[in-house]
Amino acid sequence: MNPIPLILDCDPGVDDAVALALAFGARERLELLGITTTAGNVDLAKTTRNACLIRQIMGREDVPIHAGLAKPLSRDPIIADDFHGPEGLGDYPASPPSLGPQSTDAVSFLIQTIETAPANTISLAVTGPLTNIACLIQQAPATARRLRQIVLMGGARREGGNITASAEYNIYADPEAADITFNSGCNIVAFGLDATHQVRGTPAWVEAIARLDTPGAKLVAEMLAFSNALPANLMDTSDPDQPATGAPLHDPCVIAYLLAPEAFSLRPCRIEVETTSTLTRGHTAVEFRKAVAGEFNANWVWKANPEAVLSLLLRYLA
Ligand code: BDR
Ligand code: CA
Repeated sequence: MNPIPLILDCDPGVDDAVALALAFGARERLELLGITTTAGNVDLAKTTRNACLIRQIMGREDVPIHAGLAKPLSRDPIIADDFHGPEGLGDYPASPPSLGPQSTDAVSFLIQTIETAPANTISLAVTGPLTNIACLIQQAPATARRLRQIVLMGGARREGGNITASAEYNIYADPEAADITFNSGCNIVAFGLDATHQVRGTPAWVEAIARLDTPGAKLVAEMLAFSNALPANLMDTSDPDQPATGAPLHDPCVIAYLLAPEAFSLRPCRIEVETTSTLTRGHTAVEFRKAVAGEFNANWVWKANPEAVLSLLLRYLA
């Protein structure tokens, strides 16, 4: 099987760090063309430094990193350091990496890379606010539509929200960018909280990963343990009668989908993003009824197999 050509846009972030480690580790299956960073969980300087640091830990300095936009399209940045720690990597010491990012910015890199590859070959994984992606679409809409697919973490339907009662963080942080992305005509797979809340890093899995004792596994085990120790009032367990164990592995689901799409069920849908309300900013209205939706614009991940995701982590961090 030929490796999948992939660009990963991210805002590390503890669960982005896990996604990055998985993507770097799965070198036989993923041809990582580059990593692009955006402001999100922490500011752009920190997300870019963290991406470079994770690349170093994983021994993948062959993969270029390009810094993107430092703030959302038309809003002030919303930092999520309550969930990710002040430096974005939980308690992990955020030492300066020996190699920094490339001089070309993320959006220029995306445009050049997609334009020079055959159409319908490159997959774009997105695990942060969609700011860089919206800029790509605004600057070069036809180029964006040459992507094979955009697989993104963002939104919520059954599960309500995690940053507010009705919105998921990545969409809330830059709702205008999400709106542009969902209306771009690109082929989109969306991992909302409905799917990612099904995939949790239970203490047993954290221990199993830690036992691998590789640099990547140690990093991932630390990220998962940090998330699992977050105060209960930050974590929504959805069902108070059956509280889930372990923090959700949001962003790793995106990479897991590329490696094992059979582990997930998808439903075609139309996704519209709330951009005008203050109360429900960033809410995703996900409609499955074609007669009501009109044209579908995305595929919503409905069901996830958590064992499959965690097995991939074990395999590719070993
Ligand atoms: C998303 O928000 C971020 O805090 C996480 O990294 C993930 O991408 C979950 O809502
Ligand atoms: Ca993220």
